[in-house]
Amino acid sequence: INTLDDFEVSGKTVLLRVDINQPVDKEKNTLKDITRIKACVPTIRELSDKGAKLVILAHQGSDIEYENFYTTEPHSKVLSELLNKDVKFIDDVCGPTARMAIESLNAGEILLLDNVRFVAEEQTLFEMNLKLSHEDQAKTLLVRKLAPLADLYVCDAFAAAHRDQPSLCGFEQVLPSAMGRLFEEEYSVLSSITKNPGRPSVFVLGGAKISDAFIMMNSVLGKGIADTVLAGGLVGNIMLLAKGFDIGEKSKAFIKKRGFEKYIEDAKDLLSKYEDKIELPSDLAYLEAGVRKEVKLSDLPVDEMLVDIGHTSTEKFQEIILGAKTVFTNGPMGIFEEEITEYGTKNVWDALGKTTAYTVVGGGDSITATNKYNLSDKINYICTGGGALIRFLTGETLPVVKALMHGSEIKE
Ligand code: 3PG
Repeated sequence: INTLDDFEVSGKTVLLRVDINQPVDKEKNTLKDITRIKACVPTIRELSDKGAKLVILAHQGSDIEYENFYTTEPHSKVLSELLNKDVKFIDDVCGPTARMAIESLNAGEILLLDNVRFVAEEQTLFEMNLKLSHEDQAKTLLVRKLAPLADLYVCDAFAAAHRDQPSLCGFEQVLPSAMGRLFEEEYSVLSSITKNPGRPSVFVLGGAKISDAFIMMNSVLGKGIADTVLAGGLVGNIMLLAKGFDIGEKSKAFIKKRGFEKYIEDAKDLLSKYEDKIELPSDLAYLEAGVRKEVKLSDLPVDEMLVDIGHTSTEKFQEIILGAKTVFTNGPMGIFEEEITEYGTKNVWDALGKTTAYTVVGGGDSITATNKYNLSDKINYICTGGGALIRFLTGETLPVVKALMHGSEIKE
C-alpha cells in the first residue's frame, strides 16, 4: 500500500478520509472527547504543510453516544485549534456548494466537508444490509461528484477500516491512493503485536456497538485468538437474555428499540459453542430513585434499566485481567460517564492499568474511559479503532485495506 512518501502533493487536490467520530454531549452540543481528532493531526499537518489543497471527509455516528447524522462542524473548530490554522467548514458533502468550495481552495488550505453519512448511499444502504461492491461504490454520487476534482485519495480512517462504504472504499477504484500516517502506524503496530499474542489472551467486550461485537466474537473464539471473552455492557445483557435470564422490561425494551433483538439468536449460538470461554456478569447494577442497587442473576428481573455490572462480576473480571498475558478491550461495562454507574468500568480499567499483560484498548468510548481514568500511559497500545481493531484481530483483510491495495496500483 502506498504511503504519503510515494506522492508529491504540492498544489494537488487531496481527498483525505479521516475517522473523527466522537461521543457527543447532546445537552451541551459539544464533543465529549477529541482523541481521534488529535490522532489524525499529523497527516493533516503534513499534507497541508506540503502545499496540498486538502479536502477532509469524515463521518459522525452511529450509536447512542455518537449521535448519528450529527454535523462535523464542531470537529472543524477543534481541528483549527489543534493545528493552529483555519480549517474551513462547509455544510454540504458533494453538492454544488461543496464542489465550489473545493475548487476555490489554495495550496495549503484545509476544508472539512459535512458528515459523509448525510449522503444516503454511505450509511443508509449499509444499514439496510445492501452491500455495494467496491466497483459499485465508485459509481455512487459521492465518488462521481468528488473524484473528478481530486488528484489523490488518502485514507487515514483506520478506526473505520472495517466499514465497506463509498467514502472509504469507492475512491480507491478511480484515484491513485495512499494510507495516511495514522493508518500506517495502527496497521503496522497491530500487525506486529497480534503475530504471537501471549496466552491467556483475554478480550473485554462491552459497550453498545453490538453488531461489531457479535460478528467478531464468533471469529476470535472460533479461531482460538481469544482464550476468554469478558462480556459486559449491552453485549453482556444480550448474552444473559440468550441464556434465559429475564433482565427486566426496561432493559428488554431498550434492546428491542435499538433493533438488537436479532443478536439474541447469535448469542445463543455462541454460548452453545463456547460457553466455557465466555465470562458473563454474575450481578448487575440499576438505579432506584437515583440510588445504586445491585442484583444477583438469581434475583432478576428488576423494574429499572441495568446500567452497570455489579461488584462481584467486577472482581471476577479484574482477576481474569490480572492473570492474562494479553488483553484486548473494546467497550465499557456500563454508563461510565456518570459517577453512580461507573464502578464496573472504572475498576475493570484499573485492572488494565495494573496487569502485567500486554494491553490494547480500542474504540471511541474505551479511549474516553482511558482518558477519564488517567490511564493513557499505563495501557500498552491505544488504538483509535474499536470495531476495526477486533475485525483486524480476526485475521480478515479489512475492506479499506483491500481497497487501498487496489488504489495503490492506480498511477497518477
Ligand atoms: C467507530 O466508532 O468504531 C468508527 O468510527 C466506526 O463508526 P460506526 O460504527 O458508526 O461505523
